[in-house]
Amino acid sequence: MRAPFDVVVITGASSGLGACLAKAYASPHVAIGLIGRDRQRLEATASACEARGATVNTAIVDVTDASATASWLREFDGRHPVGLLIANAGTSAGPDPDSPSEGAEIAARQIGVNLLGAINTVEPLVPALCARKRGRIAVVASIAAYRGLPCSPGYCASKAGLRAYAEALRGRLARHRVGVTVVCPGFFDSPMTDRFDGPTPFLLSSDDAARIVKRGIDRGRRRVAFPWPLVLGLQFCDIAPAFIGDAILRRYRFHIHPA
Ligand SMILES: NC(=O)c1ccc[n+]([C@@H]2O[C@H](COP(=O)([O-])OP(=O)(O)OC[C@H]3O[C@@H](n4cnc5c(N)ncnc54)[C@H](OP(=O)(O)O)[C@@H]3O)[C@@H](O)[C@H]2O)c1
Repeated sequence: MRAPFDVVVITGASSGLGACLAKAYASPHVAIGLIGRDRQRLEATASACEARGATVNTAIVDVTDASATASWLREFDGRHPVGLLIANAGTSAGPDPDSPSEGAEIAARQIGVNLLGAINTVEPLVPALCARKRGRIAVVASIAAYRGLPCSPGYCASKAGLRAYAEALRGRLARHRVGVTVVCPGFFDSPMTDRFDGPTPFLLSSDDAARIVKRGIDRGRRRVAFPWPLVLGLQFCDIAPAFIGDAILRRYRFHIHPA
């Protein structure tokens, strides 16, 4: 069967969900662009994709560097017109449970990578995708986009911003026949989750999470949010009176150790 996209770019492909998505999309006649910072881990993903028959290009790029990200993406798109762009790179941190504040620097770093880094990834290819009148952009937000959690203010802000940005973009790009998928996963097993100290209900493997994300993207879904009990729970906390959501979420004690 023909692959749904013959050119795919994935950021944060050196680890976790990004690496699993890269392998899931890799097949003969597919060109893949992989972005990450850790050369050794990115090359490991690249080798696994090549073993599945894909043509692979890698880039050691920090997505907070807007001009380096844009120039690599445009150059890659010139050689391999991109059909699917997945802005997945992300980072997480959180305040010490006994500290009232996260600190501006830590919050800004998460917003810099998770929100601005994703915008740096998406914006350079929007004109080319629109000119070709085909293609799809997917951004990996989080269920944390639905309601601010006391354990991770900066992370929630970054993912809520990313979700809003991508939902807005979808409305703008529809008439150019470019689709946008907002991915809001719950917990899945990855090096990021290894730093989580607290309950991780409905934890999936990163391969299972990648399978759900890929299926949703390939079917052209506007949103891919899972698992449904956590999605509904956080949506309820958002639409309920604030004191109810606050009371529920205060019980959730969680600490994210620094990377
Ligand atoms: N794990 C979860 O339970 C969970 C739940 C909901 C949403 N998410 C989101 O899912 C995405 C993937 O998470 P994951 O769990 O797979 O995390 P992970 O294993 O820590 O992987 C994060 C990836 O992002 C890359 N990255 C981080 N900062 C970057 C930067 N400045 N420039 C370029 N690449 C950068 C990392 O590259 P290097 O390692 O090469 O630096 C790595 O490839 C993230 O957006 C995360 O917020 C995760």
